[in-house]
Amino acid sequence: MRDCNAPVGVFDSGVGGLTVAREIIRQLPNESVVYFGDTARVPYGSKSKDTIIRYSGQIIRFLKTKGVKAIVIACNTASAFALDTIEKQLDLPVIGVVKPGAKTAVATTKNKRIGVIGTEGTIKSALYTEYIHGIDPQIEVVGKACPLFCPLVEEGMLHDKVTDEIAARYLKTLQDEDIDSLILGCTHYPLLRSTVAKIMGPEVNLVNPAYETALELGTLLEQKQLRADENHRAEYAFYVSDAAEKFKDFANSIMPFHIEFIEEIQIEAY
Ligand code: DGL
Repeated sequence: MRDCNAPVGVFDSGVGGLTVAREIIRQLPNESVVYFGDTARVPYGSKSKDTIIRYSGQIIRFLKTKGVKAIVIACNTASAFALDTIEKQLDLPVIGVVKPGAKTAVATTKNKRIGVIGTEGTIKSALYTEYIHGIDPQIEVVGKACPLFCPLVEEGMLHDKVTDEIAARYLKTLQDEDIDSLILGCTHYPLLRSTVAKIMGPEVNLVNPAYETALELGTLLEQKQLRADENHRAEYAFYVSDAAEKFKDFANSIMPFHIEFIEEIQIEAY
């Protein structure tokens, strides 16, 4: 019998998954969260499928030592490359961010033309397209990799002329595609929402998979009878594989509370 008040394990290649963690914390305030950011091995977006599957396996083994009751893969690249394999092997409920994002975009589009922006890995995997077509094969999906967005976000250049210029170049091709919905298919991109919105204009709905992922997590925990008690006081713990101080500064700039302690883990040992 699993403990309902046990934490949910959330992982990402680094800081980006905090956009998913903060949405989980906002929507499910009784759920404790153990977060792992693989800051020693980021970025995942340019790595191979086999490598991402290996990394994800190590992280899940680590999260299991913290007694997690479910896993959220809060990284689009890892969701695209590793979710299938993990689902087959893991004895815990697990969700990624790609399926929930795809579902929301399908519900949002009116003209059946959806854009997806993400890392090279996510766009190449075409998993968003696969999920979208699984729901409605008539929908046209246009993908565009935006590899410079992650470093710009991590450098804190959220409102910066250089970011505006790079975003304008990346999004140019999508502007000509008559899309009415655009999936922010990378954990960092919700932090560039206003920049992307300015370029794409008010007719294009921006879909943030983090929101729908937190909703689906709530439903999944409910189904498995694993929701934390209503009076349970949630606790949050943060682990990284390198550069804890840098992670802490970034986390404290976007999370709704102050994080004092972040522990560094030798993730290769798991
Ligand atoms: N978290 C990754 C994702 O959502 C972006 C950063 C990376 O490339 O590792 O795809």
